[in-house]
Amino acid sequence: MNIILLGPPGAGKGTQARRLVDERNMVQLSTGDMLREARRKGTEMGKKAGVIMDRGDLVPDEVVIGIIGEVLEAGDAGGGYIFDGFPRTLAQADALGELLEKVGQTLDAVIEMRVDDEALVERITARATCKDCGEVYNDNTKPIPADGKCTNCGSTDIQRRPDDNEESLRTRLLAYYKETSPLIGYYYAKGDLQTIDGLASMDDVATSIASALR
Ligand code: AP5
Ligand code: MG
Repeated sequence: MNIILLGPPGAGKGTQARRLVDERNMVQLSTGDMLREARRKGTEMGKKAGVIMDRGDLVPDEVVIGIIGEVLEAGDAGGGYIFDGFPRTLAQADALGELLEKVGQTLDAVIEMRVDDEALVERITARATCKDCGEVYNDNTKPIPADGKCTNCGSTDIQRRPDDNEESLRTRLLAYYKETSPLIGYYYAKGDLQTIDGLASMDDVATSIASALR
């Protein structure tokens, strides 16, 4: 089963994708994580993308389509792909459809995670992420353990993202409403869209996703 988690910054895409990886052996494809990894490795593409990401703007379509294309062609789908933060534009959505067809896969569901802006700002400004394994923390709902060690991998390298500040977040939200929200209509028209309440607790959101996938 291949699914898209669609939602604004802070909607909980990464949090829920990680649960699906653990529970269903699915493969999380987060273009944001992949771009941050390229930046960490110091590749030319990673450096260029990093500047754009810090501002909160979208990285060019051809870059992210290229990244996803490489992974799909490598073909390790496990229990299915979770597209987290991809596609983000209509051009990316068209490209994903073509890429899936090329590798003989289908898209089974698009889950729109709906969360209001006020909650997004609160979540994002409270977030921290383990640099080593990607485990997500939140000052209010899932604080960093007192010993500073990641509960998942034991690393002490838990950091705030450079784009998790109010100014970049405003740009990210604008990009979401302008470029990404048209995908809601795009997938609704195809009959793939399911909308869930992303404001609920993490467990309740997981339950809603599970029933949407049934
Ligand atoms: P990306 O990394 O995808 O960031 P984003 O879309 O802005 O989303 P986030 O990762 O910030 O939020 P999330 O929905 O994963 O929430 P999370 O689970 O962490 O992209 C970053 C940048 O890369 C983009 O701005 C762009 O520049 C570039 N990029 C990436 N993909 C691209 C593409 N396809 N095209 C072009 N450019 C691209 O949760 C957030 C916080 O809330 C956490 O602290 C968490 O603990 C908490 N939380 C989660 N769920 C709940 C809940 N139910 N209740 C309470 N708190 C919760
Ligand atoms: Mg994320």
